[in-house]
Amino acid sequence: MRKYITDFTIVEKKTYNDTYFSMKLRHPETLPSIAAGQFVEVEVPGNKHVMLRRPISIHDVDTVANTLTLLVQVVGKGTRTLSMLNEGDKLNLVYPLGHGFSIEGGKVLLVGGGAGIAPLLHLSKCFKAKGIQPTILLGGRTKSLIPIQKEFEPYGNVYFATEDGSLGEKGFVTQHTMFSTNYDHIYTCGPTPMMKAVARFAMQNNIECEVSLENMMACGIGACLCCVVDSDEGHKCVCKEGPVFNAKRLTNWINK
Ligand SMILES: Cc1cc2nc3c(=O)[nH]c(=O)nc-3n(C[C@H](O)[C@H](O)[C@H](O)COP(=O)(O)OP(=O)(O)OC[C@H]3O[C@@H](n4cnc5c(N)ncnc54)[C@H](O)[C@@H]3O)c2cc1C
Ligand code: FES
Repeated sequence: MRKYITDFTIVEKKTYNDTYFSMKLRHPETLPSIAAGQFVEVEVPGNKHVMLRRPISIHDVDTVANTLTLLVQVVGKGTRTLSMLNEGDKLNLVYPLGHGFSIEGGKVLLVGGGAGIAPLLHLSKCFKAKGIQPTILLGGRTKSLIPIQKEFEPYGNVYFATEDGSLGEKGFVTQHTMFSTNYDHIYTCGPTPMMKAVARFAMQNNIECEVSLENMMACGIGACLCCVVDSDEGHKCVCKEGPVFNAKRLTNWINK
């Protein structure tokens, strides 16, 4: 698939709390087709200490308005610099990168945690467009760490799990009553221990499962090898062959 290096303009910025914000970015021309789970490499402007682009999932796509939305958690100097940008500022993206999720039929469960909920909005919209109503289970330590909640409601049946019980059921997503064997496909993105637990459960119960890895990245195009995962077929670049993998290809990683 062709990649683009393009300036976008920030047309809307929302701040959810101390750590999460989103930016809607508009391009003057028609956007290419973008699969749920693909990501962009964002150039961080105006900070000479941040040389490398940062990988961020494509949270939402509007092909009529030619906009992409990114949902970002501030964790370090790159994301903090991005959080200081405002509407009207320009942002240079390389996109769309990586392989996204497959959109399969049957009963579908999406499981997200932390910034890993970002690609699940575009994914849930893709399922809705195919006439599938996914179950969407979002988890976090506490309510404020699940930055977007209502946005998912038009696209599926949404449930929450928080460790302190401040939103939805108390506990981990894997302890939620909706986390069961009642699905044909499970799709997950979030903290590594959560994805491993979800993938292990799916494998044990013969449920198809796709995980979206968030390994550290530099080039984003398979050139520097800094993002490799130890898959069952050897080392694979997460940026190019992922970030989405079928869990069956990652039993080494799941059991490590
Ligand atoms: C394919 C992909 C999609 C991603 N999508 C999103 C997204 O939609 N929203 C979002 O907020 N974040 C996303 N991330 C994570 C994001 O890329 C990192 O948080 C960001 O690069 C950190 O940059 P920084 O300069 O702010 O932090 P740095 O100063 O580089 O690092 C600060 C801290 O964050 C840790 N860190 C850096 N990169 C990662 C990473 N990839 N995973 C876990 N910890 C990391 C570092 O170890 C360090 O402890 C994604 C990562 C990948 C690989
Ligand atoms: S980030 Fe360079 S090979 Fe994946």
